[in-house]
Amino acid sequence: MRKLIDRLFQGECLTREEFQALVLCEDQDVLELLFQRAKERTEEVFANHVYIRGLVEISSYCKQDCFYCGLRCSNKKAQRYRISPEDILATCEKGYEMGFRTFVLQGGEDDFYTDQMLCELIREICLSCPGSAVTLSLGEKSRRSYEAFRKAGASRYLLRHETATAEHFARLHPPKQRLASRMEALTTLKDLGFQVGAGFMVGSPFQTPEHLAEDLYFLQEFRPHMVGIGPFIPHQDTPFGSYRPGSSALTVKMVAITRGILPGALIPATTALATLSKDARGRALQAGANVVMPNLSPSEVRVKYNLYNNKLSTGTESAQMLEALRKELEVYGRKMDMSRGDSPLWKE
Ligand code: 5AD
Repeated sequence: MRKLIDRLFQGECLTREEFQALVLCEDQDVLELLFQRAKERTEEVFANHVYIRGLVEISSYCKQDCFYCGLRCSNKKAQRYRISPEDILATCEKGYEMGFRTFVLQGGEDDFYTDQMLCELIREICLSCPGSAVTLSLGEKSRRSYEAFRKAGASRYLLRHETATAEHFARLHPPKQRLASRMEALTTLKDLGFQVGAGFMVGSPFQTPEHLAEDLYFLQEFRPHMVGIGPFIPHQDTPFGSYRPGSSALTVKMVAITRGILPGALIPATTALATLSKDARGRALQAGANVVMPNLSPSEVRVKYNLYNNKLSTGTESAQMLEALRKELEVYGRKMDMSRGDSPLWKE
């Protein structure tokens, strides 16, 4: 096992079976070694910096029907809202004044926002918030749309693959959603010069260690610039409402292995992880994670962006909260970095 960890951190490619052995490893001493290596590798590439992204949850409407997600269109109990382009811009401008230099516009797949509206909004954010990166997280769209967003000035796109195994993907989504089209979208985004974020849930229903090994194998092949990894958390008004949540320990382990695979990746300590366990966010930051995404959405709408039960909806609407985050990161020996923090692997 130690040999495997050595090889992983020497940049060697591992087989699916080797990834699975790491996924299954329960030996505490070996896991300590893995976390230590992941921490060291993060520091070699990024020093002790943790990049801060301002998250704006622009819409809770979604035309998709993912079985795990509280925003699925079949959830008639979901509270729906959308933020107007003017208010999205104003939210970013407020964040800019506080020092944010990345804005992540995230939302359900909501056709209310046309490509034209989004492009105009992206251009306006770029103009009012010079030196900032606009990241989009709006699901699967056509190549034409992605291309228009890129031309308008967006430079990053987050689109989790959720699971890299087609049969597993089919158990988490209705038949019209396909892993192949998700993968094609990721390839298109990379092609268009976006910094691309993939990612998956840990402990989603029916997931096996083989599936997680396949996720790692996919990351090794596709080499995304960013990777979002969070535990599955049930939402009561979905078909998976009574399934058990994923394990925070396994999630942290997956973060650490991912750091071994992708030394230059930007890896958030996700909200889902923080929701599940208070100190898991800290553990992830000590084992390979180097991004935190505080919520900038107006507080009236924040509770309505309800992906899963008890989703943390505390944000960073005030300078004091940003100071609290700076202090919290200092406890882990980390420095809050508000700069754009582009991937070291990316050139505009
Ligand atoms: N538990 C954890 N993560 C979830 N997501 C959606 N629903 C859940 C859930 N119940 C994640 C998915 C999706 C992102 C928007 O949120 O990975 O890509």
